[in-house]
Amino acid sequence: MGIRNWYEAKVMPRLITCACSQGQVMKRRAAVVPLARGDVFELGCGGGINHAFYDPGAITSYAGIDPHAVLLDSAREAAQAMGWVADLRQGRGEAIPFIDSSFDCVVCTFTLCSVDDPAQVMRELRRILRPGGQALFLEHGRAPDDGVRGWQERIEPVWKRLAGGCHLTRPIAGAWQGAGFAVETLGQGYTPKAPRFAGWMEWGIARKSA
Ligand SMILES: C[S@@+](CC[C@H](N)C(=O)[O-])C[C@H]1O[C@@H](n2cnc3c(N)ncnc32)[C@H](O)[C@@H]1O
Repeated sequence: MGIRNWYEAKVMPRLITCACSQGQVMKRRAAVVPLARGDVFELGCGGGINHAFYDPGAITSYAGIDPHAVLLDSAREAAQAMGWVADLRQGRGEAIPFIDSSFDCVVCTFTLCSVDDPAQVMRELRRILRPGGQALFLEHGRAPDDGVRGWQERIEPVWKRLAGGCHLTRPIAGAWQGAGFAVETLGQGYTPKAPRFAGWMEWGIARKSA
């Protein structure tokens, strides 16, 4: 195994799981994930950190995809430990392996920063959502302040290579709006105790028209 493969298989999943489980981040998950209803699809479910936040009484089925085999295994273990019947598949958001109008709700947390083609992923999310369905999002991304954004632009090329393709400068709510969703922002702001270049977060609901 070369150094790059070793880093991506062994080190990066731990770094991601650790960064994505910080207290402030978990607090924000708790504001978003329990809103999931009906047949739910989670994009980039790797690690399974969100599982504990779903309201089991509100969900009729749960499916998810992730391209990363190690993270997907953790998600499967977490689902099994909770006694869930979960349809977890290896796949990418650019070509979601489910038929049109399969889901009432999409959950997308800290994943659009990492996909290769956000516009294509959003087209796919629209396709698998039923009319009137909703996407719950919680992402870090492009900061509103020029100074912070300048740092994000400078750091991003190195950051991407270390953090599994994670981008720092992607727009969040604006990207959902650009993809034709009606967005209700539930919150936004810098995450306390996080470096500002990686700490700007936006969370909310993106609705597909009925
Ligand atoms: C920072 S982690 C977040 C994991 C999880 N969503 C969470 O909230 O803890 C980014 C995730 O996106 C996944 N990912 C990367 N590229 C992807 C793609 N093209 N389609 C779907 N998921 C992708 C990664 O494998 C990883 O699990």
